[in-house]
Amino acid sequence: MQSSGRADQAQIQGPGNFERKRGRAEAGAGAVRTAVHADRLQNARICNLRRKKDMRIYEANDYQDMSRKAANILAAQIILKPDCVLGLATGSSPIGTYDQLVEGYNRGDLNFAEVKTVNLDEYIGLDHENDQSYYYFMHSHLFDRVNIDPANTNVPDGMAEDIDAECERYEKLIRSLGGVDIQLLGIGRNGHIGFNEPSDIFDKMTHCVDLTESTIEANKRFFASADDVPKQAVSMGIGTIMKAKKILLIASGEDKADAVAQAFFGPVTPEMPASILQFHSDVVVIADSAALSKCPK
Ligand code: F6R
Repeated sequence: MQSSGRADQAQIQGPGNFERKRGRAEAGAGAVRTAVHADRLQNARICNLRRKKDMRIYEANDYQDMSRKAANILAAQIILKPDCVLGLATGSSPIGTYDQLVEGYNRGDLNFAEVKTVNLDEYIGLDHENDQSYYYFMHSHLFDRVNIDPANTNVPDGMAEDIDAECERYEKLIRSLGGVDIQLLGIGRNGHIGFNEPSDIFDKMTHCVDLTESTIEANKRFFASADDVPKQAVSMGIGTIMKAKKILLIASGEDKADAVAQAFFGPVTPEMPASILQFHSDVVVIADSAALSKCPK
């Protein structure tokens, strides 16, 4: 494909419509024509540029159902590869999934002894004891409730003196673990994944991010006020995320419906960061009916 300037448009096939079936949703064959700027497409050449014709989108009845379905996939990964590397997310979306994994552990079905984890992101300036840090979140929702070795868990250090060095360290760490076997993602209302905010370019590697007003607004619910929400974060880049062998994106609620529809049925553009996932070769989306309500039927 040629990249001869911003004005060029590259016509590519969208992932197509999907049939919604309770408990079993499969991508349909019909394709949606979408357009991306050729130079952006170039920019997206950070992984194998191969657009999935049939992305798997599973409809869940509600948040609980979504959480159970997502946990089943992560559980299967852990059972099939006990020393797997899980890429993990924070926020409201994965809490139910983590609860289900803890239940699986308590039932004796899951063993985390050899599992390794890398988290997507962390706020800059919040230490481990801060109950809004993602380190704290991960320990309270998952790590402290299962038999994972804390030494095998990794969250970017938002307190690092040299944030650029921390970003480099994190990238190298992921590489040294052999890459991520499955990356769990939520999606922001503005389509962000990790803290990769809408932008002119797809950020490649782990980097420092200035959070957008919309993200600060969305996340202020966890803080005393919007002023208390950190303004920056360390986040895996789009390139880091795209290198994961498998992606599992979960979404629940009507406020995610626009982002889900645009990300998976719209053009691939860094203005909708999650849209890059249309190029990943192994993506499963599990979203409840409300989050899928604006997708083409
Ligand atoms: C969190 C993360 C974010 C969230 C997104 C959705 O680690 O990377 O991209 O997944 O902001 O957040 P919730 O799930 O709270 O709606």
